[in-house]
Amino acid sequence: MREWLFDVFRERPWWMSATMIFCAFMAFIYVPWDIFIKPVERDQEVWFGILFTGIWAKLLAFPHWFVYSAAIYGFRRRRPWMAFWVPAYTAQVAFGIYLWTAIETGGFSGIIVGLFPAIPFMGLTYAFWNNREYFDPKPFSFTARFGEWALVTGASSGIGASLAREIAADGTKVILTARREDRLSALATEIERDFEVETRIVVADLAEPEGSKQVLEAVADLEIGLLVNNAGRGYAGRFDLLDGETLRRQLVLNCETPLVLTHALVQGMRERGRGGILFTGSLAGRLPLPLHSVYSATKAFDRFLGEALWAELRASNIDVVVLEPGSTETEFQEAAGEIAHSGHDPAEVACRGLRALGEQPSVVTGWANWIMVNAASRLLTRPILALIAHTRMAKQTPEDLH
Ligand SMILES: NC(=O)c1ccc[n+]([C@@H]2O[C@H](COP(=O)([O-])OP(=O)(O)OC[C@H]3O[C@@H](n4cnc5c(N)ncnc54)[C@H](OP(=O)(O)O)[C@@H]3O)[C@@H](O)[C@H]2O)c1
Repeated sequence: MREWLFDVFRERPWWMSATMIFCAFMAFIYVPWDIFIKPVERDQEVWFGILFTGIWAKLLAFPHWFVYSAAIYGFRRRRPWMAFWVPAYTAQVAFGIYLWTAIETGGFSGIIVGLFPAIPFMGLTYAFWNNREYFDPKPFSFTARFGEWALVTGASSGIGASLAREIAADGTKVILTARREDRLSALATEIERDFEVETRIVVADLAEPEGSKQVLEAVADLEIGLLVNNAGRGYAGRFDLLDGETLRRQLVLNCETPLVLTHALVQGMRERGRGGILFTGSLAGRLPLPLHSVYSATKAFDRFLGEALWAELRASNIDVVVLEPGSTETEFQEAAGEIAHSGHDPAEVACRGLRALGEQPSVVTGWANWIMVNAASRLLTRPILALIAHTRMAKQTPEDLH
C-alpha cells in the first residue's frame, strides 16, 4: 500500500495531486450520484456560465463524467495533452462561475462580486499553465533516466542491433552481446564512429546456463542502468518433429537467460534508485501458436515476467516494458526455418519499444497487430484461437514439418 501511494503521488506538486483527488471524487462519487440518483427535476449543470436544468442537465452530466475521468488518467499517466487541456478547463470554470455570479448579483456590484468565487480557479489556471512542462513527454535520454551503460543481448543482428543503435544514438554506452563476434565488432565500430560512445562486446552462448554467468562476469565492473533482454530464437514445426535438445536450448535462451540477467542486475538498479528493463517478447506470447508451440510458450513467460515486474518495480523508479513485435524483417524467419513472409522494419520496432519504456507495461507494434490480438483475445476462446492460429502457421511452415 505504501509503495502504491508513493507511486501514485510521486513527482507531482501537492496542489496537482489535490486536483487529481478532487477529480477522482467527482468521477467515482459525485457525478455517478448526480446521474443515477438525483431526481431529474432537481438537476442543474453549468457549462460556460449557462445554467442547464432538467433532462438537459442530466445529459450534460455525461461530458462532465468524461472530463473528470480523463483528467484522472491524464494526471496519473502524465499525458502531454493535459498541458493545454487542464488550464483550458479551469479557465472555463473560472469564466462560468464569474458570469453566473455576476448575473445572479446583477448591476455594477455583480461585476466585482463575481470575481471572488472565480479567483481560486483563475489561480489554478495560472498555476497549471506555468507548470505545463510537467506534462511534457518523458525525455528520450536514457543516460539521464537510467545511467551510463546499457546491456543489449542478441545485438549482432535484427531488432537487437537496432535497439543498440537507438540507445547509443542517445549517448548511452552499450555492451553488445551475442555469439557472432565479427558482427558485434562491426556494430561496435559503427556505433563508436557514428555516436562517439564507448562500447564493449561480450561473446557468449546464451542458450547455455554458463552464457549468462559469462556476461555478468564480463560486466561486473560496470553499473548497468538499462538491460535489454532481446536475444531469442524460435523453431517452426510440429513439436514431436523438432529436436529435443534444440527446444531445451530455446527455453534457456528465451526464458532462463532473461530471468538470470534481470535478477542479477535489478539488485544494483534498486540500490541506485533508477533503471530500465526491456524484454523482447512477441505477438506469439499472446496466444497459443501451434507449429511454434515452445516459442509461444517462452514468449508468454517473458510477457508475464515483464508485466509483473513492471508493477513490482514502478515504485523503485525502475521502468519495465515488454516489446511485442509481430512479423519483423530480420534473420529470425530463416533461423526459425519459416517460409519467408513480410514484416515490419526492425528499426521502427526497436524505436517503438524504447519509447514505451516508462509509459506502459507492454507494447504491440503495428496498429493492425494491436487490433488483431486485442479483438481475438477478447472475442474468441483460447482453443478456438489455437485452431485458427494453426491454419495460419501452417502457411508459414514447410510442409514436411507439419
Ligand atoms: N523477427 C520477428 O518476426 C520477431 C517477431 C517477434 C519477436 N521477435 C523477437 O525479437 C528478438 C530478436 O530477434 P530478431 O527478429 O532480431 O532476430 P535475429 O536477427 O535472428 O536476432 C536474434 C539475435 O539473438 C542472438 N542469439 C540467437 N541465439 C543466441 C544464443 N544462443 N546466444 C546468444 N545470442 C543468441 C543472435 O545472435 P547470434 O546468432 O550472433 O548469437 C541475434 O543477435 C527475439 O527475441 C525474437 O524472439 C522477432
